[in-house]
Amino acid sequence: MSKGRILSGMQPSGRFHLGNYLGALENWVKLQDEYECFFSIVDWHALTSSYEDTSKIPERIHEMAIDWLSAGLDPEKNVIFVQSHVKEHAELHLLLSMMTPLSWLERVPTYKDKLQQLGVQGKDINTYGFLGYPVLMTADIILYKADTIPVGEDQLPHLELSREMVRRFNNLYQPIFPEPKPNLSKSSILPGIDGRKMSKSYGNDIPFAASPDELRSRVRLMITDPQRIKRTDAGNPDVCTVFTFHKIFNGEQSIEIAQSCREATIGCVDCKKRLADKMVNDLAEMHVRRLALEANPGRVKEILVYGAERARKVAASTMEEVRQAMHLA
Ligand code: TRP
Repeated sequence: MSKGRILSGMQPSGRFHLGNYLGALENWVKLQDEYECFFSIVDWHALTSSYEDTSKIPERIHEMAIDWLSAGLDPEKNVIFVQSHVKEHAELHLLLSMMTPLSWLERVPTYKDKLQQLGVQGKDINTYGFLGYPVLMTADIILYKADTIPVGEDQLPHLELSREMVRRFNNLYQPIFPEPKPNLSKSSILPGIDGRKMSKSYGNDIPFAASPDELRSRVRLMITDPQRIKRTDAGNPDVCTVFTFHKIFNGEQSIEIAQSCREATIGCVDCKKRLADKMVNDLAEMHVRRLALEANPGRVKEILVYGAERARKVAASTMEEVRQAMHLA
């Protein structure tokens, strides 16, 4: 039995790394069996902070679709679609924008932060579209009457605003929409190969698309306990990046691995090999799916066309109700 309806979205902002997968996508893959799910590649949202050069969008959408599908999101179980393929998002965004007080948008904590942060990088996003980011996000959600929204902690202020907007709409016109509540994805605890936060800009990431060989070579580059110089030195797993990965990928067995490190019965080379073997094994199925999709770009397009058709049906019916409620039918 389905628990409810989920909608979530991600901006197509370039290839995933393993941390992105463990943070959000892995959660989505679990949720797909329990809920009726809509997952959207939100290309219009990507424009809110990056509107000048739009040339990479098609390629990024394609890459994101491959990341999602190879992670195991099933295009039959879920509705997987591109936001801009369903024009109803724009219509609902416009209607919601009429009833959203400016003060609500200006007080979203992420608004001023990001404005300032990107301003420092020389990006001018003092735009109408950027201020309206949470309005567009609300339209995404309520167009499908979603009640459960898997997001990271950073999105909580946006969801709070979505709930306020739903209450406002329901009071002003007709009670059409459920209030969306968050389903928090655990933030990824996976560090980069140098132990800092995993980030493409630090060059310490492990690409989600990595082949078995690439995975092995990234693991080989991981920073271990700097005090452990000779093979016979006892190591301290608590300061070792390889060990942090063991805890994530090898669960219970990491206890024994930590012990062997402290007693110097395993060396770093073998310890890394053991980790790489496990990661390659865990990610093998995803890699096989990825190769198949990469060999067949037409199939990826088809899946997105099919998803948009299914999304549009639901969106069109919600918009009928909205127009009725607002005397715009
Ligand atoms: N704002 C979200 C993010 O950057 C992406 C997003 C757009 C979204 N629309 C959404 C998330 C609707 C959940 C529901 O992560």
